[in-house]
Amino acid sequence: ENQVFKYYAEGEWKKSASGKTVSIVNPTTRKTQYNVQACTQEEVNKVMEAAKAAQRQWARTPLWKRAELLHKAAEILKENKDPIAECLVKEIAKPAKDAVTEIIYVGAVDFKVVRSGDLLSYTAEEGVRILGEGKLLLSDSFPGNERNKYCLSSKIPLGIVLAIPPFNYPVNLAVSKIGPALIAGNSLVLKPPTQGSVAALHMVHCFHLAGFPKGLISCITGKGSEIGDFMTMHPGVNCIRYCAAGHYSFTGGDTGIAISKKAGMIPLQMELGGKDACIVLEDADLDLVATNIVQGGYSYSGQRCTAVKVVLIMESVADEFVEKVNAKMAKLSVGTPEENCDITPVISESSANFIEGLVMDAKEKGATFCQEYKREGNLIWPLLLDHVRANMRIAWEEPFGPVLPVIRIRSVKEAIHHCNASNFGLQGSVFTKDINKAITIGDAIESGTIQINSAPARGPDHFPFQGLKDSGIGSQGIVNSINMMTKIKSLVINLP
Ligand code: G3H
Repeated sequence: ENQVFKYYAEGEWKKSASGKTVSIVNPTTRKTQYNVQACTQEEVNKVMEAAKAAQRQWARTPLWKRAELLHKAAEILKENKDPIAECLVKEIAKPAKDAVTEIIYVGAVDFKVVRSGDLLSYTAEEGVRILGEGKLLLSDSFPGNERNKYCLSSKIPLGIVLAIPPFNYPVNLAVSKIGPALIAGNSLVLKPPTQGSVAALHMVHCFHLAGFPKGLISCITGKGSEIGDFMTMHPGVNCIRYCAAGHYSFTGGDTGIAISKKAGMIPLQMELGGKDACIVLEDADLDLVATNIVQGGYSYSGQRCTAVKVVLIMESVADEFVEKVNAKMAKLSVGTPEENCDITPVISESSANFIEGLVMDAKEKGATFCQEYKREGNLIWPLLLDHVRANMRIAWEEPFGPVLPVIRIRSVKEAIHHCNASNFGLQGSVFTKDINKAITIGDAIESGTIQINSAPARGPDHFPFQGLKDSGIGSQGIVNSINMMTKIKSLVINLP
């Protein structure tokens, strides 16, 4: 308890020359749980230098060897799931029951350590095929050319990838960047979220044990407000992969949009939250809907970018739906992550205040509360808000908490209009037995993914995952991530 952790650079665990640390507050106790190093800009510079040197060697390391090391890291990560689980319980209040198990689906409140190991192995397998293949082009397919030019193209690494995962998935959303970056021959600098840093350091230790070359992976801890811009604008960085968590930001004020404006001429991939809507039509299986809404809306207390964030339901079935959801919500346990509760404290006091602000705004404007609003410290009891209207903030903003608005609609057109009026476009879902309607609605919604008859979810991890509009840039998923962290290089053989 209250331990001080070192940061990881050049293959070693180090104390920062700043002599300062950043404290990590346990969301449940609201007391300092751990401390991490407050790294300096000078230390960032050193990490970048080491990362560049290591990357040059690594890019020349045979692909099968890179894959072998990733498989090894995957194994070690799975073996070490317990200490990582413990950190996640203490740092980000993830329920303990999901700490050591893998449940691949939207209902999973797991922090996905085992999933992360599987993700690494899958990445290694995909990587050897994707990167082990090049292309041959012949010149005479283009008008006016003879067959005297042979173009050989292959994928080469970008260089240094900066990965900035969010607090809600400090392990899985770090590994989803580390694996593809490394298999493609890049080096990786990780800036974990403050809450989640210690879990991330434990995860990085697994890569250390696997025997990756010194400097190839590093983990810099510290305040985003001090080293955030410095890292994202660092000339050594060749690619940034950033994930936000709700209304949180990395540098203490900047959004992903601001980062994208400051970053250099480098590829960016960002996952920036959403207002994922569930559209429910009259013919939907309401039991299936209720199960998905409760899992999708309240798992990990709604702190997922893919959580259901608004329900748009046809008026004629709304009463029955609300009744079914309320019955399921009554069974949710509320308490500490150590006690395996379904609903646990949200990440911070400021987050709880933000959520409360949305709830109170909706109350003043006439929303119906299906449960009593209750809060103790950072713990907010699950709440369904019925009769929400477009003039309420909660109709548009992302609470990142266990509170879910229901908007009653009279037509499909109204639902599509609401979705498309949002600045976000991460995921959405449609519940209906009519597949034709589902496809038509899915086509009309401006979102990166539309789920038919299921709540939104990122996984399985090889599926593409992307946001439209303010929800992000680029696409995740194993194959897309590997490709995104490479460039094409051509060699043209000119015959006489
Ligand atoms: O919070 C954002 C994550 O990408 C959501 O992942 O759908 O697996 O919970 P998930």
